[in-house]
Amino acid sequence: MIVAIDGPAGAGKSTIAHRVAEELDFQLIDTGAIYRTVAYRALEDGKDLDSPEEVATLAASLHLDFERNDDGENVLYCDGEPMGNEIRTPHVTRASSQISSIPAVRQALLGIQRELGKRESSVLEGRDIGTVVFPDAEAKIFLTASREVRAHRRLDQMKERGMDGDLDEVLAEIVDRDRRDMERDIAPLKKADDAVEIDTSELEIEDVVQRILEVVEEKK
Ligand code: C5P
Repeated sequence: MIVAIDGPAGAGKSTIAHRVAEELDFQLIDTGAIYRTVAYRALEDGKDLDSPEEVATLAASLHLDFERNDDGENVLYCDGEPMGNEIRTPHVTRASSQISSIPAVRQALLGIQRELGKRESSVLEGRDIGTVVFPDAEAKIFLTASREVRAHRRLDQMKERGMDGDLDEVLAEIVDRDRRDMERDIAPLKKADDAVEIDTSELEIEDVVQRILEVVEEKK
């Protein structure tokens, strides 16, 4: 079974998808981590981010896999190396948004996302899971929240990871990323027609989790 959870940055996807996967005992695939890893490696290897060929060739050459660690978390490995906070810096965040609009990069990452998702029942979180990666997913959720709420959440998340941040800057970055994600020609961020939309602005995490579990139960 595939549970697709899409939505913009800061809508609560990571925390909620994590809890849903835990409740269902499904594997969690964070597809944003895949785009972030390509961006991180492109920066590390000195690739020209404005060159679609260079970045797409790199994306196709990487060996990406998820493995469960002792805490039951699905960690992304790139060429045998576990990916951690190095893919969560503001620099990598901006670069991931940039490289994710390259069609050949998305194409290179499509197969791997499908392969990983088909290995076992999965919760996949991203931007285009319900529309492109798994259009036949049994359960599709589209999470939203106001920009202000999302900016506050991002800031809290950065602080938890020991990073500094400024609310106005985070808000500007979110607005910019939303625009890029929604306006790109290929696989733009949008709600699938058959997705259930949940505005998380005023809701507690556990309420959202329960609502998603109900949707999953109905589709089982
Ligand atoms: O979800 P997260 O913020 O980690 O994603 C990082 C970037 O990767 C996003 O800004 C988005 O541009 C891109 N992305 C994407 N499609 C996905 C997941 C993430 O384009 N399925």
